[in-house]
Amino acid sequence: MKNKKFWKYFKEYEWSNIFAMIRNNRLDPKICNDDFKNKLVVITGATSGIGYLTARKYASMGADLLCVNRSQEKSDALKDEIEGEFNVKCDYRIADLSKLDDVHKVGQELSHTNFTIDVLIHNAGVYLTKRESTTDGLEKVFMVHHLSSFIINYYLVEKLKAQDKARIIVVSSEGHRFAAWGLRMDDLMWEKRRYSGLKSYGSAKTAQLLSILIFDQLFNGSGVTINAMHPGAVKTETGRENGAGYQWFKKHVIDRALRSPEISAEALYYLGVSDEMDEVSGKFFNLTAMEEPAPPALDMETARELWQISLDLGRLNTQTEKE
Ligand SMILES: NC(=O)c1ccc[n+]([C@@H]2O[C@H](COP(=O)([O-])OP(=O)(O)OC[C@H]3O[C@@H](n4cnc5c(N)ncnc54)[C@H](OP(=O)(O)O)[C@@H]3O)[C@@H](O)[C@H]2O)c1
Repeated sequence: MKNKKFWKYFKEYEWSNIFAMIRNNRLDPKICNDDFKNKLVVITGATSGIGYLTARKYASMGADLLCVNRSQEKSDALKDEIEGEFNVKCDYRIADLSKLDDVHKVGQELSHTNFTIDVLIHNAGVYLTKRESTTDGLEKVFMVHHLSSFIINYYLVEKLKAQDKARIIVVSSEGHRFAAWGLRMDDLMWEKRRYSGLKSYGSAKTAQLLSILIFDQLFNGSGVTINAMHPGAVKTETGRENGAGYQWFKKHVIDRALRSPEISAEALYYLGVSDEMDEVSGKFFNLTAMEEPAPPALDMETARELWQISLDLGRLNTQTEKE
């Protein structure tokens, strides 16, 4: 089976959506000036790039933070910096989101807390030019982007629904378009074909977008919304795990075309706080401009199939889910 939905998607592509993306790529985000005092924001990967600036933005507007990071040292430094500069609390949990055990632990802990989670931002991510296997035998990019956010959301469904309201924001990417002909459901782990950094990234981001379609249905009628966003093409530490050739290319070519990640933080603040987002769910934004994602990211049939596979791969069909 090779991209068996090629023709279906081919017919669904519309040039107007591509032009809209190109136009939106040049826009600045809408700005929200409302404060967020006494609210709690959970954010993954707050130790660098977009996550770091987003954590600072929310803290500067009065929000308390619970960061989910993999580095103890960077988390301590972040906590000291944010609590020293702003009058807020900045807690953290250590979790390597490429490890199922760590992800389950965080998901379970968050689902059992009695505090309100006002905004949950799935931001942590990785870009790899060579395939890496996690300790659980999963392809790492798929695990960190899609499965980790899937598992945490899955644990949180009932807790968030029991709250008055909550917003989940998934930091996705226009890069989902690299999976132009959809997910290879027979090879989500990239074991049967040549690995491509762009395509694996595109697949993982497409998977994230597909899972949002189902979560949106689960949250329907509650005060919980779930949306995805592209944070702009911005200069961060992304890709640092890759080799010297990639680093050279990133520094001398890619980085020169990139914008400041401050725009990502402003967009993530707007999407998390603005009243205008109160009723909006199941959508994709380029910064703060609502946009139509590529056809493979809107395929409900694949979304349902992926949901079942994700339950299995994420070990949510086992006893753990009931703990
Ligand atoms: N930069 C862009 O232009 C761009 C465009 C579209 C989408 N995005 C998305 O934006 C998000 C943030 O990326 P960024 O550009 O800000 O990259 P970044 O500077 O590399 O930051 C990535 C963050 O994720 C954390 N992280 C990575 N792997 C992790 C793991 N296994 N467990 C826990 N945390 C992990 C990193 O922790 P450490 O500090 O410990 O490494 C860091 O805090 C990603 O989802 C990315 O796909 C970025």
